[in-house]
Amino acid sequence: MPATNPLPESVLISESHLQNRIHELGAQIATDYENQELVLLGVLRGSVIFFADLARAIFSAQLENPVKEVRLRFEFVQLMSYQDSTKPSAVELIRGGTDYLEQRHILIVEDIVDTGHTLKFLHEHLWTLKPKTIKVCTLLDKPSQRQVPVAIDYTGFEIPDTFVVGYGLDYAQQYRNLPYIAVLKLI
Ligand code: IMP
Repeated sequence: MPATNPLPESVLISESHLQNRIHELGAQIATDYENQELVLLGVLRGSVIFFADLARAIFSAQLENPVKEVRLRFEFVQLMSYQDSTKPSAVELIRGGTDYLEQRHILIVEDIVDTGHTLKFLHEHLWTLKPKTIKVCTLLDKPSQRQVPVAIDYTGFEIPDTFVVGYGLDYAQQYRNLPYIAVLKLI
């Protein structure tokens, strides 16, 4: 029998706050990439729900202002972080991130930036594929935990140093389907 998972303690960001902010991010991105083709590059698995809502928010912004046409393409990468005695945090590409990205505008869509190691690795890998530009959109940012500097272009919410789940983020692969962000009490 698997051990019982801890319960989410409290709602940190409600469903309506998430949706309002994602609507704002979609409008900003639609303005910034007006009349261009953009590859939304989701980082599996944590970003999938944010990714889907953000992509539709970009379309909604176009409906409100048809001049802001953005031709969106979807791509995904999957990364794995592991502990290595020689490095503070090692990251490996498991799938995605192909030559197809050459000469494209890429917007990385992340669930959360914590130490920054994952994003730094991905950024360096993507540059080897010769894209035109790379920007970063993260739903959550925990700046107090940063170990390596990373540039973030669009941030949903800055959060304190606490472990959160929901809206794509997991603990032991659970809680991804909560429609809000909750603090998890680890016991
Ligand atoms: P970083 O390399 O430390 O920036 O780690 C980023 C990854 O760590 C995210 O994509 C998440 O998968 C995971 N992560 C960091 N903080 C949390 C959290 O509070 N809840 C769930 N996953 C987290």
